[in-house]
Amino acid sequence: MNKNEFIKKYAVERNGTDSLKWDDLEVRYKDKDLISMWVADMDFKTSEKIIESMISRVNHGVFGYSYVPDNYYQVFSNWMENHHNFPIQKEWVRFSTGIVTAINWMINIYTNPGESCLILTPVYYPFHNAVKNNNRKLVTVDLKNNDGYFNIDYEATEKAIIENNVKLFIQCSPHNPAGRVWTEKELDTILNICKKHDVLVISDEIHQDIILGDKKFIPAAIVSEGKYRDNLITLSSASKTFNIAGLLHSHIVISDENLRCRYDEYIKKINQTETNIMGITATQAGYAYGEEWLRNVLEVIRDNYEYVKTELNDKAPGVILSALEGTYLLFLDLRNYIDPENTKEFIQDQCRLAIDFGEWFGDNYKGFVRLNLATNPKYVQKAVFNIVKEIQKL
Ligand SMILES: Cc1ncc(COP(=O)(O)O)c(C=O)c1O
Repeated sequence: MNKNEFIKKYAVERNGTDSLKWDDLEVRYKDKDLISMWVADMDFKTSEKIIESMISRVNHGVFGYSYVPDNYYQVFSNWMENHHNFPIQKEWVRFSTGIVTAINWMINIYTNPGESCLILTPVYYPFHNAVKNNNRKLVTVDLKNNDGYFNIDYEATEKAIIENNVKLFIQCSPHNPAGRVWTEKELDTILNICKKHDVLVISDEIHQDIILGDKKFIPAAIVSEGKYRDNLITLSSASKTFNIAGLLHSHIVISDENLRCRYDEYIKKINQTETNIMGITATQAGYAYGEEWLRNVLEVIRDNYEYVKTELNDKAPGVILSALEGTYLLFLDLRNYIDPENTKEFIQDQCRLAIDFGEWFGDNYKGFVRLNLATNPKYVQKAVFNIVKEIQKL
């Protein structure tokens, strides 16, 4: 299937489907007529293989309690091994209704109220909320921003860890919204700092399959031949990979026995072990048969990114784009053109776009906006057209 056939078959209008992204604009942005490019899901139907397996499950008609079958673990492990060199053992895997839920659990299990948790900003805003809502101290360290290419500031990070007696680091890999796919060396350096100071690492790898450039995604658990496994927990899901976030199913992978025991002790007080049948069905089908769909959707996202880059570099060269090595979330720095205080007026009222504002990801990112490129190219073209037109008027 070529790209145009894929778009014809899978791109959908989502208005009128109770979609958070499209139908909630009036509530979120006080304007229902914007082009929606915020929240991280795609405007494409999931793979027909996933839909077929869900239909077949629905047609059975019984939705009683189920357990996770052995072949689920097998298919999950195969995917992880084939794509990311990280075979998973069944005993390591636990489930949650989402990564954000799991992050909240992790904070409660492995830290005490008042203790410090670290994040590297700009970063996915529920990380901030999870720390604050659980009455832990939020420690933020900015990534180094080199013309849109973000790197970890190791020195500042280590200093912040020591000064705040940090207990937990919530890592985002690949990084939303910086777009970075961390190299093994980068991961080794940060994981080593954490280990040295006894900081447990929660590695949120939800974007692991959305890789656009030639950098390979490395799971934290295989860095330096698994050297840091006794000090980390991996969170992953097929929800970004196959656009099935609404099914609320994700993985918590804990290969270290001691960490796993602490998890199990806590979780029996708040969560049952059974999972959502549809989440299991869809994820299993995706990992077994979704490869081609993923390849196609990545091609659309890559082309969308290339389009934005080419157009903006040509017609509004002062806009600084993040390097989109991974994720479908492009971070744009508009500060060469607009006063950061006027970002909302510019991007929403003039350009007519619903986006995620930079300051949601960290205090120092006013004047940045995050654009979701997992959409029909027609919306990307319209968004870029509007941005260029409004910049040229300035
Ligand atoms: C880094 C990151 N983690 C977690 C999530 C959400 O995960 P879930 O829906 O499973 O809570 C997102 C969604 O955008 C994300 O970007």
